[in-house]
Amino acid sequence: MSDPLVTVENVTKTFEHEGQSLEVLKGIDLEIRDGEMVTIVGPSGAGKSTLLHLIGTLDLPTHGTIRYQGTDVTLLGSSDLAEFRNRSIGFVFQFHHLLPEFTALENVMMPGLIQGGRRLDQRARELLDEVGLSHRLTHRPGELSGGEQQRVALARALLMKPKLVLADEPTGNLDSQSSDAVQELFFDLNRRHGTTFLIVTHSRDFAAMMPRQVAMKDGRIDSDERRPQSRANPADQKPQDGAQPLENQGKPT
Ligand SMILES: Nc1ncnc2c1ncn2[C@@H]1O[C@H](COP(=O)(O)OP(=O)(O)OP(=O)(O)O)[C@@H](O)[C@H]1O
Ligand SMILES: [Mg+2]
Repeated sequence: MSDPLVTVENVTKTFEHEGQSLEVLKGIDLEIRDGEMVTIVGPSGAGKSTLLHLIGTLDLPTHGTIRYQGTDVTLLGSSDLAEFRNRSIGFVFQFHHLLPEFTALENVMMPGLIQGGRRLDQRARELLDEVGLSHRLTHRPGELSGGEQQRVALARALLMKPKLVLADEPTGNLDSQSSDAVQELFFDLNRRHGTTFLIVTHSRDFAAMMPRQVAMKDGRIDSDERRPQSRANPADQKPQDGAQPLENQGKPT
């Protein structure tokens, strides 16, 4: 459970904007263990979404490496990368909209259509059941509430049984009840399947429940805390097992 799943080493990201270089990430070292529940918090503009994009292999760092269980994904070609991403990472991002002309069930099946297979329909139904939407299978996104759409997006993110789920403000637009339900689901999936979660949130309550909180500020990691008193987490059950002190994380041993 405690092996590193993702290792971000000395990552910077600079955007060119109107002839100016804007250094948005200024040297990030971060290690995420298999089965961990990690939240990223920090003020608007700190670089949280940018980092999540890089970890999600949707964009390349300017410098540095991102390794998944030892493989440097910044070196993969585009078709290998697309396959890796589809298989290994689930995204719950607000720009990853559901497709409006398809039903909830079809939207959830979407990531698996490339591979096909008869079990796809059944798995999508099971996932929608898990997120409490088995009574909304044939609704299109426009016929679902915001919270229901968010849960469809989550079911879709889980279709390929990813080891890692990246979520960018997954409860941002939800009322407190729907938001509690989504949070509960994350913890439940982590407990039952050992899925690793990396979640950006502005919700203090949500962040406070998470076993590990990484705070970003101005393109850097400002603090990185594990809290044993927070909710059960498979990765926390054997904290001594190969764990490095936080200050050493992401650096070669
Ligand atoms: N493609 C881009 N080109 C130029 N600047 C960018 C680009 N993407 C992001 N930025 C800038 O990088 C900084 C960090 O953006 P990012 O989206 O990572 O912030 P964030 O921490 O997610 O903030 P928020 O909490 O508001 O979502 C911002 O100041 C933003 O304007
Ligand atoms: Mg953001």
